[in-house]
Amino acid sequence: MSKVKAAVFASGTGSNFQAIMEANNLPCEISLLICDKPGAGVIEKAKNSDVPAFVFQPKEFTSKAEYEKHLVEKLREANVSWIFLAGYMRIVGPTLLTAFEGKIVNIHPSLLPDFPGKDAIGQAYHAGVKTTGVTVHFIDEGIDTGPIIAQETVEVQDDDTEETLKEKIQKVEHELYPKVIQQIVQTK
Ligand code: GAR
Repeated sequence: MSKVKAAVFASGTGSNFQAIMEANNLPCEISLLICDKPGAGVIEKAKNSDVPAFVFQPKEFTSKAEYEKHLVEKLREANVSWIFLAGYMRIVGPTLLTAFEGKIVNIHPSLLPDFPGKDAIGQAYHAGVKTTGVTVHFIDEGIDTGPIIAQETVEVQDDDTEETLKEKIQKVEHELYPKVIQQIVQTK
């Protein structure tokens, strides 16, 4: 039997995309990458993994609803049931949210609800917290809000720099995201 299909949305380097691709026993097939940043590192990673990529520039569309309508068409054509946001730095609007209700998951590098939005690692580091971490959650119309599925903590040591903290957090992300994907796809 063929596996259920999923898409990854990403805007950046794609280390989480890569971790998902390298995970063993993933119960879904990553059949599409959606990227809103031409030239982003994740596009090359998709190419190397033979995953088709749809790369677009939001400014080429008249509105968010317009490009999301287009994305929904692409996702339907590829028979996608699940969407995993992995560094997709845009708020998902009602067009996509309604079309894939309860099937869009995000990873964020902080213990939400603390430090939502951009540069969560830098925000936590400069706030001087001793504990931060990673959150995987279903999304809603907010910025890094929605029901939390899993969280893992990361301790900030006195000798950590922003860079070493980022390394520790991303290591946790790369293990946690595939694990959570496995659980939710199997149970929902
Ligand atoms: C990841 O740390 C992810 O948690 C974060 O972007 C990074 C992407 O890295 N996402 C957010 O901040 C969402 N608000 P990657 O391109 O190497 O996977």
